[in-house]
Amino acid sequence: MRDANSLTTAFGRPGRLGFELSPLGGVVARLHASGGTALVALQGAQVLSWIPGLVTPDVFWLSPLARLGTGKAVRGGIPICWPWFGPHPDTDAGLGAHGLVRAADWRVIDSAVKPSETRLTLGFILDAQQQAVLGGTADLTLDVVLSDHLTVSLTTRNTSTSPLMLSEALHSYFNIGDIASIEVSGLTGRRYLDQLSGNVFTQDGPIALPAETDRIYWDTPDTVIIHDAKLKRSITIEKTGSVSTVVWNPWREKALRLGDMSDDAFRQMVCIETANVGPRNNITISPGSQHTLTARFSVNR
Ligand code: BG6
Repeated sequence: MRDANSLTTAFGRPGRLGFELSPLGGVVARLHASGGTALVALQGAQVLSWIPGLVTPDVFWLSPLARLGTGKAVRGGIPICWPWFGPHPDTDAGLGAHGLVRAADWRVIDSAVKPSETRLTLGFILDAQQQAVLGGTADLTLDVVLSDHLTVSLTTRNTSTSPLMLSEALHSYFNIGDIASIEVSGLTGRRYLDQLSGNVFTQDGPIALPAETDRIYWDTPDTVIIHDAKLKRSITIEKTGSVSTVVWNPWREKALRLGDMSDDAFRQMVCIETANVGPRNNITISPGSQHTLTARFSVNR
């Protein structure tokens, strides 16, 4: 991977975009625009932070135990799950959860600025082993656009000669005042798979999270809002190219088992994931075509 200085020379935009070695141990891009400052790690093309211009804490939660360069995905920000979500469908395949790219090194392919917008584009091309796992060839780009909001788009181009079927997610970890003082609206009446019990339910009113929660809401192109009474703000997640929404909080016991979250960290985070999750919401991309999954985040106080 290229070092921060040579990336700044090649792709930097004075006052708007530069690359630096993060105290977490890897290279990150720092974007500035009217919408504040965002950090994106080249590892996993992972947004780590967005502090909007408003006086408000980071929109994204990042585990204080997170480190780059360990070969493992960083817990927090926006990991990318692709081309499968959760455990690999073939449990004997020896493949890790959430796909191939969240801990891999991406490369910088472009940057651009407009008066009120800063853009960074990262790319990923599968190696032969990854192509064998996918059963085809594809290339990926992640566009991060910071303006008065933050937009993240994952584009998959099918470069093979047969259709590709996959699941994907922008696995956003949001920073919240306290898990007991948030409500998540936008999914009333939608059906979800409760991954903890294996049962299917219909959402009745806003979502509260009083315990471990792990749900896949199907057929949900809906805008979702996190209402945070303690931080006195709401985070709106609008999306395109996505028909699943995942809602996750591990609660204390599972968080301790994960090993990269501290004791009470579950209280300060919630994952609302912009996704397409199989078997119901897999996407199929025909040869030569592409699909883009986009989440647009905005904050109101
Ligand atoms: C969520 C899943 O998206 O990610 C959960 O719904 C899973 O089932 C969680 O536990 C975290 O996964 P990981 O692999 O990052 O520990």
